[in-house]
Amino acid sequence: MQTQVRIIGIAGGSGSGKTTFARELAARLPKEHCEIIFQDNYYIDQSARFDFDGGNVNFDHPDALDFDLLAKQLAALKSGFPIEIPIYDFATHRRVAQTLPLVPKAIILVDGILIFHPEKVRNHFDDLIYFDTPEPLRFQRRLERDVRERGRIAEGVKAQFERQVKPMHDQFVEPTRCYANTVVSELEEFSPALETYISHCLELIASNR
Ligand SMILES: Nc1ncnc2c1ncn2[C@@H]1O[C@H](COP(=O)(O)OP(=O)(O)O)[C@@H](O)[C@H]1O
Ligand SMILES: [Mg+2]
Repeated sequence: MQTQVRIIGIAGGSGSGKTTFARELAARLPKEHCEIIFQDNYYIDQSARFDFDGGNVNFDHPDALDFDLLAKQLAALKSGFPIEIPIYDFATHRRVAQTLPLVPKAIILVDGILIFHPEKVRNHFDDLIYFDTPEPLRFQRRLERDVRERGRIAEGVKAQFERQVKPMHDQFVEPTRCYANTVVSELEEFSPALETYISHCLELIASNR
């Protein structure tokens, strides 16, 4: 019998807790039945335009992303076909030649700030979770992460937040909150939401057998 694929979209601003939630959920489900797809893999090649952090390339605008490909690949998974996830190299701003193969699984989590924006992508989600985390906390988390993990300097992170992250969030990310069937807006809501989705996903996996 063909696997019935359920796709759960996890959206919200940068630093809102999406990836933490997606990874914790995936860690509590059987590996063979769950996979995470990251919006970041779908950046369009920006090597010709990139100048500096916070410069000409606006990584927070929907046009920076290949949502046509993401929509096509989510449709393929639902129809039972394997896909090849692109890989974007943040150092060179190019899509590399290799891809990540993914076979259809019962639970596919999609993590990204803008994934509820294009209708063609949004229509594929069976569940939509939005992390509505206050801006000061999102900024603080992003600052710490980018300095710690991405070798960025605080001034650059701050400038990019003001120039791109915040305006794009307000224009394109926050307005998609209305599509969510689960909104997590307080830190205390994180664990209950996680437990709810673990049970829900385990039921879906069991009903697939
Ligand atoms: N519920 C939470 N409680 C405490 N810290 C959290 C929580 N969710 C996320 N964080 C922390 O906030 C930072 C950003 O979270 P992350 O999941 O990477 O956000 P996003 O993927 O939405 O950009 C990480 O350092 C993470 O450990
Ligand atoms: Mg993330």
